[in-house]
Amino acid sequence: MPGIVIVGAQWGDEGKGKVTDLLAERADAVVRFQGGNNAGHTIVRDGQTWKLHLMPSGILHPGKLCVIGNGVVIDPKVLTDELDELRRRGVDTSSLRISANAHLIMPYHLMLDHAGEAKLGRLQIGTTRRGIGPCYADKAERLGIRVQDLLDEKILKKKIVAALEPRRLSLRPFAKDPKLDLQAMTDEYLTYGHRLERYIADTTRLVHQQLDADRSVVFEGAQGTLLDIDHGTYPFVTSSNPIAGAACIGAGVGPKDIDEVWGVTKAYLTRVGAGPFPTELDGAIADELRERGGEYGTTTGRPRRTGWIDLVALRYATRINSLTALAVTKLDVLSGLDRVNVCTRYRGAEGAEFDYFPYHQTVLHHATGEYLELPGWTDDIRECRSEDELPEAAREYLQVVSEFVRVPIVLIGVGPGRDEVIWTRASAGMAGAGGRAPASTGARPRV
Ligand code: GDP
Ligand code: IMO
Ligand code: MG
Repeated sequence: MPGIVIVGAQWGDEGKGKVTDLLAERADAVVRFQGGNNAGHTIVRDGQTWKLHLMPSGILHPGKLCVIGNGVVIDPKVLTDELDELRRRGVDTSSLRISANAHLIMPYHLMLDHAGEAKLGRLQIGTTRRGIGPCYADKAERLGIRVQDLLDEKILKKKIVAALEPRRLSLRPFAKDPKLDLQAMTDEYLTYGHRLERYIADTTRLVHQQLDADRSVVFEGAQGTLLDIDHGTYPFVTSSNPIAGAACIGAGVGPKDIDEVWGVTKAYLTRVGAGPFPTELDGAIADELRERGGEYGTTTGRPRRTGWIDLVALRYATRINSLTALAVTKLDVLSGLDRVNVCTRYRGAEGAEFDYFPYHQTVLHHATGEYLELPGWTDDIRECRSEDELPEAAREYLQVVSEFVRVPIVLIGVGPGRDEVIWTRASAGMAGAGGRAPASTGARPRV
């Protein structure tokens, strides 16, 4: 203990990598628990940028236990490339451990992801085409191939044959692709097995040992609450559960092992891929937010759709995840706007009003945001390191957000760099903040 879960409170790309890297400094272990290399987590430190897809965002802290949990789906080519790249840049990766029970993304999963999207045509989800959905589908169908299978040629081959059999029809367009050749595929994956063998472990036990020894473990989520396959904007979602409850499943711990749940949210909102987005902007302001925020996918390079912060959705994310703390990133991106809008309710197609997240897909598709208009601020805030240094309007904005969802804001991002943050007074006493909170000034906390 303690266990601290970090989740995305929106549609992904909220800045989870940066927050995880910050919390990892004081933690003993960092565990990824779901998703795969559809994730792209960015860390900027000392002028260098790191883009991690499968590697837990604690890997830049030498010697810290970094776990890829059983709930993650692993493309071993991407993982070995990522390991090579980190080593090339001088990072010690020896403390990585990979769950023997995690499922593997196979070449046919990538093909099926492409084919599935092509077939949907205009209705496509806009997946990252990394094979995530088909891999989780095979896991649920009990046709998945796991990391431990990489260590036994006979088993690996048998499982590949069994997995390919029901997919023959869908894979017919790829029949001539050399990647589908049974022996070639087996050989390629055995090679990955040799390379990864030293990292493969019973990670559930390793995490238990950490918690039982009173060490602190950060569980790093990928994607975001609204991309959750059960609770997100289905079918425009990913194929895993990015919410806090999934940390238990994807790492092998119980709900009582979780002490804090930190939700990461941008000061505005983005979405990459298709699906409803009630506060979406278009025109000049949308482009301005995209350019100023560098809103292009870390994994695919796609331009992200942009919009105002959606407090209806954030309140929903708060409840679904039991958030105990909020980290608000990219506040600096809003500097210079005359007014900033916060969405506090939706209006449906026939004028109906919703102050909760509607469960019905059609309702959500037609919902548009209703806003509270707040004054903007002009000052550059990237140098601010305490709440008191922020312009009054920025503090008011944060207060509105925090009071609406009734969760304290503990961390504010004012730039991409790891030191471009403000630890608020509310972070005092949070295990995740590890004593980083500023000493109390006696002033009434504003956020
Ligand atoms: P993740 O997937 O949740 O880890 O987020 P991404 O890395 O995909 O996207 C977040 C982007 O915002 C990255 O480029 C970060 O470097 C950047 N970022 C994070 N926090 C801040 C912040 O407070 N201000 C600014 N300007 N950029 C930030
Ligand atoms: P991080 O961890 C933003 C989106 C895709 C698509 C949908 C399904 O960096 O926040 P998938 O390939 O998962 O089947 O695609 O989910 N998506 C993300 N959007 N950030 C992510 O990860 C995402 N991972 C998947 O764009 O809409
Ligand atoms: Mg990302």
